[in-house]
Amino acid sequence: MNPPAHRPAPRAGILDIAPYVPGRSKAANGVRLHKLSSNETPFGPSPAAIEAYRAAADSLALYPDGAATALRAAIGSAYGLNPERIVCGAGSDEVLNLIAHAYIGPGDEAIHTEHGFLVYPIAIRAAGGTPVVAKETALTADVDAILRVVSSGTRAVFLANPNNPTGTYLPFTEIRRLHKGLPASTLLVLDAAYAEYVRRNDYESGIELAATADNVVMTRTFSKIYGLAGLRIGWCYGPAHLIDALNRIRGPFNLSAPAIAAGVAALKDRAHLEKSVAHNDAWLSRLASEIAALGLRVTPSVGNFVLIHFPDRSGRRAADADAHLMQQGIILRRMEAYGLPNALRMTIGSDAANQATIAALGDFLAVKAD
Ligand SMILES: Cc1ncc(COP(=O)(O)O)c(C=O)c1O
Repeated sequence: MNPPAHRPAPRAGILDIAPYVPGRSKAANGVRLHKLSSNETPFGPSPAAIEAYRAAADSLALYPDGAATALRAAIGSAYGLNPERIVCGAGSDEVLNLIAHAYIGPGDEAIHTEHGFLVYPIAIRAAGGTPVVAKETALTADVDAILRVVSSGTRAVFLANPNNPTGTYLPFTEIRRLHKGLPASTLLVLDAAYAEYVRRNDYESGIELAATADNVVMTRTFSKIYGLAGLRIGWCYGPAHLIDALNRIRGPFNLSAPAIAAGVAALKDRAHLEKSVAHNDAWLSRLASEIAALGLRVTPSVGNFVLIHFPDRSGRRAADADAHLMQQGIILRRMEAYGLPNALRMTIGSDAANQATIAALGDFLAVKAD
């Protein structure tokens, strides 16, 4: 279709993008009792991070350090990484988009998995590329299926490990096998937004490959376990040539000064992080068993959320459950956009929120169906 002559038109393909729809924040009656729709932490940020954020208010007239030097140094020491090989962004969303813009263009392909994070196809299309979907097996990324759809035009593979919204993960042996099967010119993007929550001996976030391979980058976020989603802080760790490319195209001051200050303080509070991990771990198994006891299927998760599947029966479907929960101020995430219309994703919240959700699901199932 030719663009209209009477007004500026976006580049070809932009209007084919389905906009990302964030988790809802208000329940049916306008109240927000328990928002469990965006994988946010129930503990909030470290008090030290809030204090650092407030202290930064004194210097708002000044531009931030465009290189986010203090934050990269703090990340480097917290995770044992060379700060020179880190780029920070306004959330890992920005970092993922920077990667797509730097490596993907019109005519290129990039792969994501069937129920992968929805920012990937948006970022791929926004860069002018074509998303290619790799089938999953049992709601888990499938290395062979990914390798089967690699072509000479594949510039990148985006893989969330663990994946959102399924909560499933690939062990490091599988990530290595995937990497071995990719051409040297294809970039493997390992999105480890939920890595801090994972308690599995066979899991590795991607640091090792990103440290040693020329075609692997790992992305991370402060939005989940660090409780700073509202501040927008993400980062990636990768080979020097990729860091150089991203630094050429990112906004020169893409992180605000309060974000840098709060991020540095958050990294120092190990006790806060450990409290969140322990809470999550306890609730992951408890939710799995209590929801299963209600007769609902839960996909085994290693993240801070669980995917709950509903019976395909009138009055018992995910949409019915959602309406029931919303009436009680409990907001979960609808999964139609992820191709899972009969599931809801529940973030692990506070004790009260989790208990209220289990009770509300019990009530929902006890009501006589149509
Ligand atoms: C897998 C995955 N990657 C990245 C993000 C983006 O996080 P942020 O942009 O807040 O850093 C999310 C958020 O939901 C996610 O689930």
